[in-house]
Amino acid sequence: MKNYEIIDKLYAYHNADRAEFTALINTVTDEELEYLRKKAQQTAQKYYGNKVYIRGLIEISSICKNDCLYCGIRRSNANAVRYRLSKEQILQCCDTGYPLGFRTFVLQGGEDGYFTDDVMCDIVQKIKQKYPDCAVTLSLGERSYESYKRLFDSGADRYLLRHETADKEHYEKLHPDNMSHQNRLDCLYNLKKIGYQTGAGFMVGSPFQTAENLADDLLFIKNLNPQMCGIGPFIPHKDTPFASYHTGSVRLCLMLISIIRLMLPSVLLPSTTALGTADINGREKGILHGANVVMPNLSPLEHRKDYSLYDNKICTGDESAQCISCMKNRMKSIGYEVVTDVGNYIAP
Ligand code: 5AD
Ligand code: FES
Repeated sequence: MKNYEIIDKLYAYHNADRAEFTALINTVTDEELEYLRKKAQQTAQKYYGNKVYIRGLIEISSICKNDCLYCGIRRSNANAVRYRLSKEQILQCCDTGYPLGFRTFVLQGGEDGYFTDDVMCDIVQKIKQKYPDCAVTLSLGERSYESYKRLFDSGADRYLLRHETADKEHYEKLHPDNMSHQNRLDCLYNLKKIGYQTGAGFMVGSPFQTAENLADDLLFIKNLNPQMCGIGPFIPHKDTPFASYHTGSVRLCLMLISIIRLMLPSVLLPSTTALGTADINGREKGILHGANVVMPNLSPLEHRKDYSLYDNKICTGDESAQCISCMKNRMKSIGYEVVTDVGNYIAP
């Protein structure tokens, strides 16, 4: 099948096979990519118009028990500055965000043992009590079924857990021995089963990644059918074993955003900070390729630079108010509008 035919099939039937995905990844021309982009943008607009949802990202802890080889806050990085926000600081971030128009708060952090179920449930309840018109998204890594259930029962609405790569062998090249690919996938199925709006996702251009790996990521996403999907280019961090690897391709990342939009037409699809770091206009390009969510930073200014997953991360020097106004301008410049809306998933 020619690439144009694969794109038409994706648009009409939301599906392609491994060989077809691999062909697109390896051989797409600029003209074909533009054709794909337009179809993806049109699909996003069918559900979301020119609206872009915002999520306030609150980076609650740079402490992590894991040692993922790509990540700047991995346990073995002795140069990482570690911090943890208090309950009061987290609530203050929400207090700052609400009047700025945020109706979703994303609490993200390393796997920090301090944030037990008791501690997290209390935080989630307090946020939902004070802001009942807001969604709480958690992104705290792998936890047990019971833990996810307790957090859900205390009011958490959504959970982000990127699968990172659908291929077990590739996963094992990116993570130390004590991390299990199967457990990661089980976590995602548990989250969906419990009733979270669930987000999976992967890095584009991570070390050792092949076109076939990416095709498998797409097939995995199709099969899981998550409500959200976060992808961004791999960006090296100087204090990790992957310091000397190259940043992933922005072009490929944009193409995958478009493919995911066609595969899962109404998925909540962020144009990520990593994309905006790899390319100054990356977030705008992501929206034009079919993304419909951006995640400005709401973390306290004094800790921003210490949540350093990769080098040169953007938005680390700006107050939350500046960050959201920058984002509004950026979206306006491409004909889109940031909206004050909880931005729940719409079924296709
Ligand atoms: N480059 C790009 N993305 C990264 N992440 C972690 N480290 C990096 C990096 N070096 C992503 C992972 C993780 C998410 C929170 O950030 O995909 O799931
Ligand atoms: Fe954060 Fe521009 S979006 S400073």
